[in-house]
Amino acid sequence: MDNYRLVPWFMKAAVLKEKFKDLKRIPNPVNSYPEANRADGLIDLCEENFLSHFKMVEVGTAIGSSARIFSEYCASVITIDNFEYLPDTVIDTKRTIEELPNVFLLVGDSRKIVNRFMVNSIDAVYIDARHGYEDCKIDLALWGPKVKLTGVICGHDYNKLDWPGVIQAVHEYAGDKFTLKTYQDTSWVLRRKW
Ligand SMILES: C[S@@+](CC[C@H](N)C(=O)[O-])C[C@H]1O[C@@H](n2cnc3c(N)ncnc32)[C@H](O)[C@@H]1O
Repeated sequence: MDNYRLVPWFMKAAVLKEKFKDLKRIPNPVNSYPEANRADGLIDLCEENFLSHFKMVEVGTAIGSSARIFSEYCASVITIDNFEYLPDTVIDTKRTIEELPNVFLLVGDSRKIVNRFMVNSIDAVYIDARHGYEDCKIDLALWGPKVKLTGVICGHDYNKLDWPGVIQAVHEYAGDKFTLKTYQDTSWVLRRKW
């Protein structure tokens, strides 16, 4: 059974984990955690945090792997990349994204594109661009306010060995206002405390 729409909802994650078991997030990952490049943890994140009506933004498309997973869970996905890491992949990525009817690729700097979005206007953002402390801090400061108060601010590479700056920036942004949860693929999720 490769179409989760034909199975009970509680089996969707298992079907998708099988479908995406060989998915590569980026071609040659430099990462101390082998699980970080797998789909399982990201599927768990989507199951627990995303609703089918969600309009979300992904910051950092690369080859479109995470966008493929988000497209299974959200009504609409805008994914943004300036292709500074992998300039040769842009044509293949465009082809991948074109096959996903609810995913739209914006090519450019997310720090400029962010100005096109209203405050409190999107249900989720997944931040997965540059992973230094300052860069992650800037992306959080720019994109966090665009997410509705009931929404989900999340991203990749909560990874103390390779990307300690991501951890620092996420904790600083969360303060005592958000709860933090992490997933097997080193994704992180912030949800506002009430
Ligand atoms: C780690 S990869 C994204 C991986 C993808 N989210 C996945 O899991 O399949 C990071 C991407 O962010 C892009 N990037 C970095 N800084 C950016 C910026 N300021 N605006 C847009 N894209 C950016 C890079 O070109 C690169 O393709």
